[in-house]
Amino acid sequence: MSNLQFSFKNKSAVVTGGAQGIGFQITLSFLQAGGNVTVWDYSEAALESAKKELASFKDQVQFTQVDVTQKDSCEKAVQALAWPCDVLVNNAGITRDKSFGKMTFEDWNDVINTNLTGLFNVTKTLSEKFNTASAHKRIINISSVVGLYGNFGQTNYAAAKAGVIGMTKTLGKELGRKGFTVNAIAPGFIATAMTQAMPKETLDAMAAKVPVARLGSTSDIANAVMFLASEQASYINGAVLSVDGGLVI
Ligand SMILES: NC(=O)c1ccc[n+]([C@@H]2O[C@H](COP(=O)([O-])OP(=O)(O)OC[C@H]3O[C@@H](n4cnc5c(N)ncnc54)[C@H](O)[C@@H]3O)[C@@H](O)[C@H]2O)c1
Repeated sequence: MSNLQFSFKNKSAVVTGGAQGIGFQITLSFLQAGGNVTVWDYSEAALESAKKELASFKDQVQFTQVDVTQKDSCEKAVQALAWPCDVLVNNAGITRDKSFGKMTFEDWNDVINTNLTGLFNVTKTLSEKFNTASAHKRIINISSVVGLYGNFGQTNYAAAKAGVIGMTKTLGKELGRKGFTVNAIAPGFIATAMTQAMPKETLDAMAAKVPVARLGSTSDIANAVMFLASEQASYINGAVLSVDGGLVI
């Protein structure tokens, strides 16, 4: 499916985890809509591969190796920004799935540090670099349906993603007067490396549960991000948009 036709000419986005999967598609969508994008990702291999794939957009895109769990790494990346930021997409995330009985302290800490503290680190360090001239400043946080409803084997991930929703609503209240909207997207099951790590029978069972009878694509999520980032979405603030094919109806 082609992307919706929004224009981001003269606008800049920072996309965390933007070198792969959903984040890569978000990056590509902004670039195709004429925007500049700074990709923050910690994977050297993913950054290299994205750089090659996006060579035709080289004047519009900056790649920076950043670990969102590290405040210092975020601060350094902020100093290197080529453009002031109009749109921040907090997308970087990991899973360390295990039933609660088997989940280790490390599994818990890794996921909370990346999927929740990472958003604080990035949003906090970037907050001074938002484009003060921009009337439409946007923060879009990628949560998950499991943050709304829980999921077997994902105590750490569901807690982090629920935390993202609390953070989104609070920042929506605090920053609304300063020209920001802050929203979350709760994807359902999207076909990426993250879901491909799951057993095939689990994926088939997931698809069978979705009323539209398929897993989502990365474009399904990128299209929702484009809309929330657009000027047309100016009055949407503190919302959690489920993009899940009706999984949780
Ligand atoms: N795939 C799904 O079904 C699904 C469903 C709901 C929510 N999500 C969320 O969507 C987001 C993207 O998921 P995906 O499926 O594209 O995953 P992915 O693993 O394909 O990509 C995640 C990207 O984040 C980067 N990253 C991870 N930790 C990082 C860190 N500490 N610092 C910087 N970059 C880091 C990785 O290098 C990678 O490029 C995640 O927040 C995920 O939780 C995914």
